[in-house]
Amino acid sequence: MRVAMIGTGYVGLVSGACFADFGHQVTCVDKDAAKIAALQRGEMPIYEPGLDALVAANVKAGRLSFATDLKGPVADADAVFVAVGTPSRRGDGHADLSYVYAAAKEIAAALDGFTIVVTKSTVPVGTGDEVERIIREASPKAEFAVVSNPEFLREGAAIQDFKHPDRIVVGTQDDRAAEVMKTLYRPIYINRSPLVVTDRRTAELIKYAANAFLATKITFINEIADLCEKVGADVQDVARGMGLDNRIGSKFLHAGPGFGGSCFPKDTLALLKIGDDHATPLRIVDTVIRINDRRKTEMSKKVAAALDIVRERTIAVLGLTFKPNTDDMREAPSIPLIEDLISMGAVVRAYDPIGVEQAKKVMPDLIYCADEYDCAKGANALVIVTEWEQFRALDLERLKQVMATKPAIVDLRNIYPPDEVRRHGFIYESVGRSRPKGG
Ligand SMILES: NC(=O)c1ccc[n+]([C@@H]2O[C@H](COP(=O)([O-])OP(=O)(O)OC[C@H]3O[C@@H](n4cnc5c(N)ncnc54)[C@H](O)[C@@H]3O)[C@@H](O)[C@H]2O)c1
Repeated sequence: MRVAMIGTGYVGLVSGACFADFGHQVTCVDKDAAKIAALQRGEMPIYEPGLDALVAANVKAGRLSFATDLKGPVADADAVFVAVGTPSRRGDGHADLSYVYAAAKEIAAALDGFTIVVTKSTVPVGTGDEVERIIREASPKAEFAVVSNPEFLREGAAIQDFKHPDRIVVGTQDDRAAEVMKTLYRPIYINRSPLVVTDRRTAELIKYAANAFLATKITFINEIADLCEKVGADVQDVARGMGLDNRIGSKFLHAGPGFGGSCFPKDTLALLKIGDDHATPLRIVDTVIRINDRRKTEMSKKVAAALDIVRERTIAVLGLTFKPNTDDMREAPSIPLIEDLISMGAVVRAYDPIGVEQAKKVMPDLIYCADEYDCAKGANALVIVTEWEQFRALDLERLKQVMATKPAIVDLRNIYPPDEVRRHGFIYESVGRSRPKGG
């Protein structure tokens, strides 16, 4: 099949490269000429493990190419995927659909022969109807079907997720379109990933409902962690004891600094707005958003509690990206934490294995360090914000030598055993694992 991928960001580039790897002929298109030029030089515009090799192999095989103009690729395509951004609209939190609609208009002018137009971007219920209307109005004679195909990949494990998804959701009631989608995804569902074929509106809602549910799970365990701290229980064991129940499941039950990233914050907010638009208040989602927002400021208080005073103290922050194995800084919990600490008068030193270039765009004036131990130099507290693998086995003795006297470690991801860290002479704070009060 011939595929045009409109939007070559995290989702578009990974999806395009994976479709090419299945043997399809893919052109990834983006308006950002610098991004396309970089890709044409063989440079990745984002960090995603394994992506550079996958892209290189498929470019070499002649199945994957890049362009800034969608006309040719769309005219040739059996399927045109829309994978442009749908950020929160400034001011009201609705999903900003201007990129999707602009792409739809451009696609309309270029269609040639029966083509399916597939929305991969996360979009509110009814967006497919509007995309269809836009294309029909712009090109009344075009032969096309609009399909919803939300994407569930996680940054940091995107290739594995795309190639081995828990399910593929396809929203269309057009048999011809369903057939094209099945052909495109055949290599995956032959591997037993279930294909959920439903109507377009349902498919659109599945994506938001799934993300909001996962955000709820995180928020739930975060509140339980707060309670653990008060009653002397251990949230790690509570989560394990809950998660082993198959009805609950262990994933997304890790207490931490609150959810961030490119999807959960904007998608929960957009779902809330969809509910409001249809006079169906989504009270659980509303509460989740508010608890998560509050949590961001609570993390700086946790650091302050470990230090007694924050003013003029040096704080080393390890991990800036919103999760490990990505360079994505969108809504990263490190940002409000660092801002709070600076406003409390602290000197913040920071280190991230991959995300520094992106972090500099958001926090240009921060002191960026060469590695973990350089970052810890002279610090009164070391805060682990993102659980990169390389932070899991730090040399505690070496840290103690480079840090100030009475050093503290604030482990917002619970990756260290409290007793071990305290044995090395650190003040240690984590999330939901206060020192037991009783037996
Ligand atoms: N990032 C994720 O982990 C993830 C996972 C699942 C779903 N999604 C959804 O996928 C969509 C894309 O997310 P992303 O993180 O890849 O976004 P992104 O911001 O990384 O990439 C979007 C790209 O689209 C390009 N673009 C915008 N308008 C265009 C146009 N008219 N023509 C060509 N290119 C255009 C931009 O230049 C940008 O490179 C969003 O709706 C998001 O919610 C993201």
